[in-house]
This record gives sequence, C-alpha cells and structure tokens, in this order.
Amino acid sequence: MKNKKENNFKVVITRKIPDAGINLLQKAGFQLKINPYDRILTKEELKKFVKGADAILSLLTDKIDGEILDAAGPQLKIVANYAVGYDNFNINDFKTRKIYATNTPGVLTETVAEHTIGLIFAIAQKIVEADEFVRQNKFRGWEPMLFLGTDMRNKTLGIVGLGRIGGEVAKRMRDGFGLKIIYFDAIRNKNLEKELGIKYVSFESLLKQSDFISIHVPLTPQTKHLFTLKEFKKMKPTSYIINTSRGAVIKESDLANALKKKIIAGAALDVYEFEPQINPELIKLSNTVLLPHIASASIETRSKMAEMAAKNIINVLNNKKPLNPIF
Ligand code: DGY
Repeated sequence: MKNKKENNFKVVITRKIPDAGINLLQKAGFQLKINPYDRILTKEELKKFVKGADAILSLLTDKIDGEILDAAGPQLKIVANYAVGYDNFNINDFKTRKIYATNTPGVLTETVAEHTIGLIFAIAQKIVEADEFVRQNKFRGWEPMLFLGTDMRNKTLGIVGLGRIGGEVAKRMRDGFGLKIIYFDAIRNKNLEKELGIKYVSFESLLKQSDFISIHVPLTPQTKHLFTLKEFKKMKPTSYIINTSRGAVIKESDLANALKKKIIAGAALDVYEFEPQINPELIKLSNTVLLPHIASASIETRSKMAEMAAKNIINVLNNKKPLNPIF
C-alpha cells in the first residue's frame, strides 16, 4: 500500500480468536491489537478500540456501521467478519465509504450441517430431556412409555433456504437417515434439486407437509419474522422446528406461545432473536433444546474461519482483492 510499510499496518481483533488466524497476521508483520477482555466490547469501547486501524477483524456480535467505520479513520480498508453471516454489518455504510467487507463462507458448512442434525435428533428423541431426568436421579428402571420420541426414517424434512448448509443437511438426512426432503427458497435451484434428488415446494406447502423444518436463510428484512404464530398454526402439531441460522427469522414470543399451546411439538434452537437474551418461556418449556450459538464451534472449523478472516485482511493490506468480498 502506498506510503505505508507493511509492518506499520494496524490490525485490530475485537475478541480473541483461534491462534491459526492470529499467527498468520503476525507472520505478515502487522501490528496486532486484540481485545484484552473476554467479553463483547460496548459500542463506545469499540469506537475507541478501532481508532487508527487499517483492518478490523470483527465478530458477529459487533455491530459495524458508519459510526464504527468513521471512528477507525479514513485509513481503514477492510473489516473481515469472523462468521459467514453478516447481518451485523451495515453494508450501505461500507459501500459509501469504499471499505471492503468480508465473511467466511464454505469453511463452516459441514460443521453447521452436522450440528443441525444433532439438534434434530436431540429434540425428536428427547435426548436432553432424558439426560436431565437421569441426572435428577429419577430413573427407576426401563419403562414402556418413558420418553417416547419419533423416528426419522420416512419422515419429511423441510429445508428453508437451500444454500450450502441447507444442501448439506438435506444430503445427509436423506442418505444417512432415509428422510424425504423438500425445500423452499426465494430462489429456486433446479440443478441442486436434481443433484440432491429433492423437491421444491411453496413455503405454505413446506409448512403443511414437514415433520421437521430446518432454517438456513440469512437474516435480511425479507426473512425477519418469516416464522410467526400464523406460520406455526399451519405446521403439523407433531412437527419440530430447528434453527441454526439467525434468531430473528423466528418471532420468538410467538414460538414460545406455539410451543406452550402445543401448536407444534418442539423447537431446537442455536440462535435467538435478542441474543444473548432468550425468551424466559422457552427456558421453562421441556419441548425445547437450547444451545448458545455454537453450531460452527468445532476446533477445526473455528481455526479455518480465523485463517480465512486473516487471509482476507492480508490480501487487502497487500493491495490485492479480498478472497471473500461480501459485495
Ligand atoms: C456464522 O458464521 O454466521 C455463525 O452463526 C457463527 O459461526
């Protein structure tokens, strides 16, 4: 980059990430500043923290808008999100300032798909509830009616959003466990339909037919509150909803209502509308499995995400195009 030696570039990392990414940035000779606290920075802290940065490595918990970009200063060239989702970015603010925004697509696909499948099994076969029962010393021996769950084979899985992750969930559930797969997406993908042998249906029809619905859409104004009480009422009373995408795709208070009234059978969630807050009703219910946004949290995948975010920064600070530009 003009007038600035490589080792003068300042890269700020908003929270400790796996060493794989930090090592790459160190090897590139940048000055690194890592959030010293084991917590999310407040907006005011973040504004101070990014001051003077040439690159920011951000997390999905950091809201990055014009205020933060301006607080960094005019030398800022890139914000690399350590996540595939980027609903924490105000993309327009990036565009008007001509600052690169990048994410980490691809490297977490299989891990999130595996995790989603884990959640499907956990909720359908009451694994968490039964574990709790044993830990509470309630197990008195085999019982004919104890924790009756539901089988997978021949059931219908409805995928909402047939992107990379949705596609991997579909493939594994069909090939591994014998489910019939249907999907809905705003954009129909006939090639993938053929490749995976799965069927496109309308959203309405997916709601009605599915025994399991798994959500894999990004959070956008169009997908916010895609699921409200109205949609839950169209689902089978025996059906389950699984969400490993973004919480606000579901109107959480409506979900709690639907579960309480047994309008649907259960929900397994990794993400929440107002993270880290969770609707207290969901916590009280036994027909939920609730995780702390960890679907991509394998050692291998988080290391790859860290490397990918670092490589985007290294490219841009070396005057090259980023590997994973968002726009
Ligand atoms: C993402 O990458 O968007 C996940 O939610 C966290 O890994």
